[in-house]
Amino acid sequence: MKFIDRSSVLPNVLPFLFLASTPVQAVWPAPSKLSTGNSSLLIDKTLGVTYNGGNVRWSSTELYPRRCARKTNENWFLLQLSWTLDYEPSCAPAFSSEEIVTGGVARAMKNILEDNLVPWKLYGRNQLESTEPSTEGQTYVRQLEITQTGTDSTETFKPLAGQVDESYNLTLGTDGKATIQAVSSTGVLRALESFSQLFFKHSQAPYVYTKLAPVEISDKPEYDHRGILFDTSRNFFSLESIYRTIDAMAWNKMNRFHIHVTDSQSWPLEIPAMPELHEKGAYAKGMTYTPENVQAIQAYGIYRGVEVIFEIDSPGHFGSAALSHPEVVSAWQAEPWAKYCAEPPCGQLRLNDPAVDPFLDKLMNDFLPRVSPYSAYFHTGGDEVNLNAYALDPSVNSSDPAVLGPLIQKFVDKQHARVRAAGLVPMVWEEIPANYNVTLGDDVVVQSWLGDAAINDLTAKGHKVISSNYNFWYMDCGRGQWLNFANGAETEQYYPFNDWCTPYKNWRLAYSYDPRANLTAEQAALVIGGEVGAWSETIDDANIDDILWPRSSAAGEVLWSGRIDPATGQNRSQYDAGPRLAEFRERMLARGVLAGPVQMVYCTQGGDPTACRFTTSS
Ligand SMILES: *[C@@H]1O[C@H](CO)[C@@H](O)[C@H](O)[C@H]1NC(C)=O
Ligand SMILES: *[C@@H]1O[C@H](CO)[C@@H](O)[C@H](O)[C@H]1NC(C)=O
Ligand SMILES: *[C@@H]1O[C@H](CO)[C@@H](O)[C@H](O)[C@H]1NC(C)=O
Ligand SMILES: *[C@@H]1O[C@H](CO)[C@@H](O)[C@H](O)[C@H]1NC(C)=O
Ligand SMILES: *[C@@H]1O[C@H](CO)[C@@H](O)[C@H](O)[C@H]1NC(C)=O
Ligand SMILES: *[C@@H]1O[C@H](CO)[C@@H](O)[C@H](O)[C@H]1NC(C)=O
Repeated sequence: MKFIDRSSVLPNVLPFLFLASTPVQAVWPAPSKLSTGNSSLLIDKTLGVTYNGGNVRWSSTELYPRRCARKTNENWFLLQLSWTLDYEPSCAPAFSSEEIVTGGVARAMKNILEDNLVPWKLYGRNQLESTEPSTEGQTYVRQLEITQTGTDSTETFKPLAGQVDESYNLTLGTDGKATIQAVSSTGVLRALESFSQLFFKHSQAPYVYTKLAPVEISDKPEYDHRGILFDTSRNFFSLESIYRTIDAMAWNKMNRFHIHVTDSQSWPLEIPAMPELHEKGAYAKGMTYTPENVQAIQAYGIYRGVEVIFEIDSPGHFGSAALSHPEVVSAWQAEPWAKYCAEPPCGQLRLNDPAVDPFLDKLMNDFLPRVSPYSAYFHTGGDEVNLNAYALDPSVNSSDPAVLGPLIQKFVDKQHARVRAAGLVPMVWEEIPANYNVTLGDDVVVQSWLGDAAINDLTAKGHKVISSNYNFWYMDCGRGQWLNFANGAETEQYYPFNDWCTPYKNWRLAYSYDPRANLTAEQAALVIGGEVGAWSETIDDANIDDILWPRSSAAGEVLWSGRIDPATGQNRSQYDAGPRLAEFRERMLARGVLAGPVQMVYCTQGGDPTACRFTTSS
């Protein structure tokens, strides 16, 4: 392999560098440490990639002796990865580090060489060509040497918070040699994503270049749980939307995909032991997720460092089960609905009916063993339990909290025992501990949506918490009501039909949120992360990309990089984030996700974030 000396490159590059420097420093979310230079390199298909070359000890055969077993030279081997752009690992459901890394390399190279952006929106009007490096006599990135310093374990592929080390170091020299070091294969995936974001497509195809060499990155996440909540009950989503969302999450270094898979509106989840649930509860034939789909979604996530967590919400939000099992549901389609639930149709699991335990045993015995090989968590729901609905429950006939509290405790204890018996850790919505005085196990992760005071209360009581503060991270908000209003008094009262959580959470608002704000250090340590929410009453395949992106990227940077910039001790600035997010949006778009624009091109061309600064008239 022959590297072109940097000195022979400079004459080509220098004249251009003086015309315009790189406007922004790539890489979203911001790495903990990043230093870049101003030398250019090209990259193409001839890139060689190694994984654990040399004497690094690494073994996959001991952990995964089944279908992914590879011939290894004892405990270590030098592996020359031969990647192809459409490489997909073949060995699910057994996972090997080698397969994970190989898939990651293939996707990174596809993003670099095929699905990349020509950054004309980032340079001055009509100046793109003058900013691009020469394609003649240029050094190529010839080698990417990946070293995994730790050994993956079963937990690497379905981690609890804190069980996987996602840190990595990345270098790219002016000599065209790149290195990645990471403790886990997940860290390698994060590094490969950062690597891919250093490159741009040249206006003269097929050249692809970076102007940032030498690069040094040292990076690790601020929060362990960086998620998106996806609701497949209010509207059904295709597998394509689910896969596309997982891909975009991985680009944002997000790692928890929470599927709120059932609710009162529809039951799209196939349970082979109880086919009547989806046959009667899905919106239509085929609008369902088969066991094969469920497994494929989880494996798809694992290959991208994204853990898929399913939620079957209970005891509230359970109405659609009444279509096949009316004997376990109370207040199904009760009216006026606002008295019995948060939105139509109502329906909650009965709280004291002998039919409920056998029903849940059968349901959980079918579903949980299928998801537990791929996930550490199962979300048991528990939000918006409406006590009035239990006045209609013949097993209770009461809405008295004193009567219902102990029954809810018993219900949660049993449901969490089922979850633990399947080797999973329960998650719940915050109302369970906050509103019904339910005592939870120490293992339980509580998802908060009600905001700052709630997080303060929950962490003061010692709960592990993830935040989906609706004031900042509910992406369905602010787009108006989906209910119909009668002419006359109703319309007059509710005009102009704002929804309950208006305003729209624009990216600046999402970016301003600090889930650990105002907490003591001890409380802050209990906030293990957060999730962006996208309740789907008015969201489906047609608009999910634009709803989630790039606003979830703003939350993603808070969760990966922290709200406070360690370099300044101050809140991260929109002047820094805006141009980088605008660039990253173009990357997501080039990769096939229909993310909305961050700003008009006038604001981004020239890379001057003050071009569209806020001013007053005086
Ligand atoms: C490139 O970076 C070096 C080191 O920071 C600096 O001295 C030099 O002026 C830069 N060159 C250009 C053309 O910007
Ligand atoms: C990255 O480099 C730093 C500084 O040399 C080192 O302390 C750290 O362990 C490295 N991280 C990884 C994942 O190799
Ligand atoms: C609730 O009321 C219904 C109708 O009056 C009755 O049949 C049922 O036994 C009552 N249940 C309880 C638990 O008291
Ligand atoms: C909550 O439950 C605990 C123990 O289960 C009990 O000591 C306490 O009095 C209850 N508080 C309320 C407000 O019911
Ligand atoms: C933190 O506390 C301040 C002062 O009470 C309040 O204005 C702010 O909303 C709080 N922010 C968060 C994120 O909790
Ligand atoms: C960050 O911004 C919040 C309001 O968004 C403010 O309360 C807080 O004091 C700021 N923190 C720092 C370190 O400036």
